[in-house]
Parts: sequence; C-alpha cells; structure tokens
Amino acid sequence: MSRTNLSPSTLREAFGHFPSGVIAIAAEVDGQRVGLAASTFVPVSLDPPLVSFCVQNTSATWPKLKDLPYLGISVLGESHDEAARALAAKTGDRFAGLQTVSNQRGAVFVDGTSVWLESAVEQLIPAGDHTIVILRVSDITVHSDVPPIVFHRSTFRRLGA
Ligand SMILES: Cc1cc2nc3c(=O)[nH]c(=O)nc-3n(C[C@H](O)[C@H](O)[C@H](O)COP(=O)(O)O)c2cc1C
Repeated sequence: MSRTNLSPSTLREAFGHFPSGVIAIAAEVDGQRVGLAASTFVPVSLDPPLVSFCVQNTSATWPKLKDLPYLGISVLGESHDEAARALAAKTGDRFAGLQTVSNQRGAVFVDGTSVWLESAVEQLIPAGDHTIVILRVSDITVHSDVPPIVFHRSTFRRLGA
C-alpha cells in the first residue's frame, strides 16, 4: 500500500468529488464592482441567520471586501458557467457582460440568479491556508425558478431532470 499523498493537487482533486453550488460574493468599492466566485458556500444557522464561505489567504480581492458593511451573495444559475470563470479571473473585468444590481448599502448582486443574500461579515476563523468567513444575512431575495449551476471535479454541470 502506498503512502497517502496529501499534496495540494491531490487534495484539490479529491475534494472536487464533492459537488457544490457556486456563489458570487461582491460589493461596490469606490463605485467599482469587486467580487469573486466561491464554491465553499455553506448555510450555517437559521437563528441567527448565518452563512459561511472559505477564502484563500492569498486572495487579493478579499482584503478589499472584508471591511465593507455589506456584501452581496448571489447563488449562480445553470447558465453562469462563463460568469463563474470570469468572476475568478486574475486579469480583466470580472463583471464583463454580467448584469448586476447594486443596492443602497453597496452590496452587488448578479441578475438572473436564484437567491440574493445581503450579508455582513460576523466572524473570521483562521483555518489553514483559508479563512472561514461567517456572515450574518440581513436581507434575502429568491427567484425559485432559476436552476443552480453545480461545480464538480473542476467542471460546471447542471442538475439532472
Ligand atoms: C468555481 C470556482 C470556485 C471557487 N471557489 C473559491 C472559494 O470557495 N474560495 C476562494 O477563496 N476562492 C475560490 N475560487 C477562486 C476565486 O474566485 C478567485 O479566483 C481567487 O480568489 C483569486 O483571485 P483574487 O486573488 O483576486 O482573490 C473559486 C473559483 C472558481 C472558478
């Protein structure tokens, strides 16, 4: 039996077997839309209303978002595969071609997605090379007719019928 290989690439491949949805987390910073795609979103608590996601400690975008009063979370729909990649791009406009809505409190939401959660950072928990971000939800909008995109083994998929 070979020793277990716990390299980052082996772990990423193994973790990728767990299917997940994808969110955009975004807000306005000095009038510009700033955000990123994340597949580590997890609903946490109903009372109080809490959700979480994990952010890489190397993220260049998170430091711009983390101290803002409100962030927008949008659960991406099945047609958002290109948008998800754009929202993770290292260069270029992450929101190019995306219709968004900015609310009065600076949270940015992606049009045509199933759920919008206006939220505020509640707690940051260091966890290895990531930080677990706990957010308190302050407002919700649901468009229940939008099927979600599913991220599985580095591929975007749709739910079966
Ligand atoms: C489908 C998908 C899921 C992702 N999930 C996460 C995630 O959960 N956490 C995270 O920090 N980055 C995640 N990323 C990467 C970020 O979107 C982004 O590329 C990364 O933060 C690097 O950009 P930055 O340095 O500007 O933050 C994901 C990217 C894709 C395409």
